[in-house]
Amino acid sequence: MNILLLGSGGREHALAWKMAQSAACGRLFIAPGNAGTAQHGENVNIAVSDFDAIKAFCIDNKIDILVPGSEEPLVKGIYNYFKADAALRHIPVIGPSQEGALLEGSKAFAKEFMGRHNIPTPAYREFSADNFEEGVVYLRQHSLPIVLKADGLAAGKGVVILSSHEEAVQEFEEMIKAAKFGDASKKVVVEQFLTGIELSVFVLTDGKNYKILPTAKDYKRIGEGDSGLNTGGMGAISPVPFADAAFMKKVEDRIIRPTVEGLATEGIAYKGFIFLGLFNVGGDPLIIEYNCRMGDPETEVVMPRLQNDLLELFKAVEAGSLDQVALREDPRAAATVMLVSKGYPEAYEKGKEIEGIPAPGADQIVFHAGTKAQGGKTLTNGGRVLTVTSLASDLQQALSHSKQTAESIQFEGKYYRRDIGYEFVK
Ligand code: GLY
Repeated sequence: MNILLLGSGGREHALAWKMAQSAACGRLFIAPGNAGTAQHGENVNIAVSDFDAIKAFCIDNKIDILVPGSEEPLVKGIYNYFKADAALRHIPVIGPSQEGALLEGSKAFAKEFMGRHNIPTPAYREFSADNFEEGVVYLRQHSLPIVLKADGLAAGKGVVILSSHEEAVQEFEEMIKAAKFGDASKKVVVEQFLTGIELSVFVLTDGKNYKILPTAKDYKRIGEGDSGLNTGGMGAISPVPFADAAFMKKVEDRIIRPTVEGLATEGIAYKGFIFLGLFNVGGDPLIIEYNCRMGDPETEVVMPRLQNDLLELFKAVEAGSLDQVALREDPRAAATVMLVSKGYPEAYEKGKEIEGIPAPGADQIVFHAGTKAQGGKTLTNGGRVLTVTSLASDLQQALSHSKQTAESIQFEGKYYRRDIGYEFVK
C-alpha cells in the first residue's frame, strides 16, 4: 500500500521507520519529512495543513492511507476534508474527525467530555471575556500554585503554572484580554494543581475496540532535575516502572474504556491514536490532557518496543477489527535522549553540520527531529535535532548506551540532558 505520512519530527521518523518494516509497505511518502525520514521513503515538499496540495498528491500517487503525525492537520479537519470529497473518501485517515480532535484542540471541550463520562480529572473552571471579573475573584481565593490553560492550541506553550495570586491574575489578563496566545487563549481553563508523577499512555482505537500501546514517560524541561523552561520533550523512557498491572487496570477501567465508549455514544468518529496525559496521584490515575496523536519523543520509545506490524494494525483500525489483534511488546526497556540546538527552546541557530551519527543497529537507532540533508551533509534544522533510542535488558543500560552515543555525535552547540529517567535508576 502507498502511504502519505504528514510531519517532520522525530515522531514521524519513528513512524516512517516502523511502517517501512511492513511487508504491506509500498511507496512511503513523508510531507515534508526530514533527513531521517528520507532514509525510509520519499520526502515531498508539502505543508501539513495544505489540504488541497495533499489531495492532489494523494490522487496523483494513488495513496492508500493517510497518517497525520501531528495535531495540526487533525485539529484543522483533515479527516472531514477527506471524508467529504468523493475522490478521497476511500482513503483511510489514521486520526479522529475534527470533532474528535477537539479533545486536544479545546481544553474546555475535553473537560466537559470527561465530566459527561465521569472520567477522573482535576477540578476546573473555565473563563472568557464574558465572565472575566468573576474569574479574577475566583483566582484571588484559589489555592497556590494556580494552573492556567489556554483553551486552544498554543504550540505547547499554553499551560502556565503560577506561584502567586498577583502573577496568576496578570497572566489571566494577558491571556484573555491581550490575546497572549491569540484566539487560543480567548477562553482559559483554571485547573486544580496536582502533586504526583506524570506518564503518557497511548491507545489505538478503531472507534469501538482499542489496544493499549507501551507506556512512556517524557521529560519536558530543558534543564537537569526538571528545571528551566518547558520544551517539546528532552527524552523519554518505556515502560514506566510504576505503571504496573494494577495501576494500568485502573487506567483502563476509569479512563480508557469510558473515553472510547464516550466517543462512540456521542457519535464522534475516531479511528486513530489517543494520547492520555496522566498523573499518578497516590496510585490513582487522573487525566490532565488528551492529545489526538502520538507523543514526541514518546513515539521514539513506543514504536521500537511495539512488535506488531504497524500497517497491519492500521488495516485493523480501518476494518474495525482491532479486537482480532493481539498486541506484542518487546520486554526490553527503551530510552531516548534528545540532542538539541544551543539556545533551544528560545532562539537558536540552524544549519550546523552533524557528524558521527551511527548506522542503526538491533538495539539502537538515532531518530532525526530537526535535520535536513544538503550537499551530501546532514545539517541541523530545528531546536530538537536528533534523538538517540536504545533498547536493553534494563533501563539503566538503555540510558547509558543512549548517552554514550549522544556524546559521540557532534554538532556546534549540541546540548542534551544526562539525567533522563533519573527517578528510576541509581
Ligand atoms: N511529549 C509530549 C507531546 O508530544 O505532547
